[in-house]
Amino acid sequence: MSFDLVLFGGTGDLAWRKLLPALAQAHRHGTLPEGGRIIGVARDELSDDGYRALIGQRLAAVEPDKRPSEAEFARFAPLLHYQRMDLSQPGDYALLRARLAERSADVVVMYLATAPQLFTTACEQLGAAGLATPRTRVVLEKPLGHDLASNQDINARVRAVFGEQQIFRIDHYLGKPAVQNLLALRFGNALFEPWWRRETIASIEITIAEQLGVEKRGAFYDQTGALRDMVQNHALQLLCAIAMEPPINAHADAIRDEKLKVLRSLQPWTPERLAHDVVRGQYAAGQRAGQPVPGYRAEDGVAAHSMTETFVALRTGIANWRWAGVPFYLRTGKRLAAHEAHIAIHLRPTPHAIYRTPLACGANRLVIHLQPRDGLELHLFAAAANDRRTGAGAAARPSPAREAPALTPVTLDLDFDQRFGAKRVGAYERLLLDVIDGRLNLFVRADEQEAAWRWVEPIMEFWDEQNARGDGPRPYAAGTWGPGAASALVARDGNTWAEEC
Ligand code: BG6
Repeated sequence: MSFDLVLFGGTGDLAWRKLLPALAQAHRHGTLPEGGRIIGVARDELSDDGYRALIGQRLAAVEPDKRPSEAEFARFAPLLHYQRMDLSQPGDYALLRARLAERSADVVVMYLATAPQLFTTACEQLGAAGLATPRTRVVLEKPLGHDLASNQDINARVRAVFGEQQIFRIDHYLGKPAVQNLLALRFGNALFEPWWRRETIASIEITIAEQLGVEKRGAFYDQTGALRDMVQNHALQLLCAIAMEPPINAHADAIRDEKLKVLRSLQPWTPERLAHDVVRGQYAAGQRAGQPVPGYRAEDGVAAHSMTETFVALRTGIANWRWAGVPFYLRTGKRLAAHEAHIAIHLRPTPHAIYRTPLACGANRLVIHLQPRDGLELHLFAAAANDRRTGAGAAARPSPAREAPALTPVTLDLDFDQRFGAKRVGAYERLLLDVIDGRLNLFVRADEQEAAWRWVEPIMEFWDEQNARGDGPRPYAAGTWGPGAASALVARDGNTWAEEC
């Protein structure tokens, strides 16, 4: 199958940091279909060879695990082509049409790795230039809008040109191997289903913690904030993967129908819940790896009195038979204590205790690690082998005959990186191959996206009102786990975040 992949924003950050390294990896792995062209599009005056040289230089600077060797790049480079275009100029689309008409590829992918303001113009102009054919697929990066109305507007305008089956809305978290595994774990094993519900599960925590600050994206981030940047999409998609019912098959719409049901069942916000169950924070100066780092308001592109949140922790629930009454805690932030994403499923304690377990986290826990490591940990309790009464140190203590024996926490640990090693495929590599193959399973449908916006919108409005009263996010020192109020949020239910166990 031949393909032309048109990379709008072909010289931009996303292209050379993520997309081109992922395509080069796929090429190295032999999974990129033969006979493909990757056509970078940008405003610079460049020849095909000039583009190859530029990308060669840029790729030499990416992280070592994503960087192709010189020999690999030399084999990959002939796939790269370049077309100069100004997306705001209708006349320039004819240049692209001529380029694509040089041959008749089976699939033409239009990847919009551009500023989001250009998404709708680009799609409309592609349509007007006759470039939206049944062979065409369009890929939209986030953010798709900044609220429900703008998201609906973008979706409506894109759908006036392309059918829903041609639209690939990226949430790169869905391409992460750990998220694939989560679905495989739940729906490929009979073991989990019987206890995957309110009767056994006490609470669920989803944490996406970053150590980095806003880096060079201050101006963008200051208009966006953690709720729009991470919760509306990545965190809610993870929540769907945890909470959805088993789909009837593994096809895109079957999976997306189930995710949509979860999003529609999320507990609606009330003024009381907004006030008590959502914590927002903003990093102040602090440390990273022992080095001082500036606070958010001192970052380039950020307003001196910015009220933008860099941290969100919230408590919600899902109103259905499986999950009624189970708190779901979502937490994400920049400049936190660790680079770490996980889902911790806290089980209920035994109904009647004949042993002593640690006071905090004295029940079983399944922790699904998403990154940097990808694996599963099952936290259990065992009797320590060298102790008649069981429990570390127990033998040293005089023991009243009626004291319950103590148990020792132990962990069953499955490390997928070690188990599957080099065979693992990165998120963008997987998603790009899916677009070329036309597999929509890991892409977000418009109605899912709208349901997610509908749910976060009351939080945005609540914060706007708070801001107007001069009541902004809570400061936290860079390098910590966020404002103390986030711990208090879970402590109110008698729970803890995973790192507090
Ligand atoms: C992006 C956000 O979608 O995800 C960034 O815009 C964030 O702000 C990034 O840093 C995190 O992705 P990952 O894969 O590094 O966890």
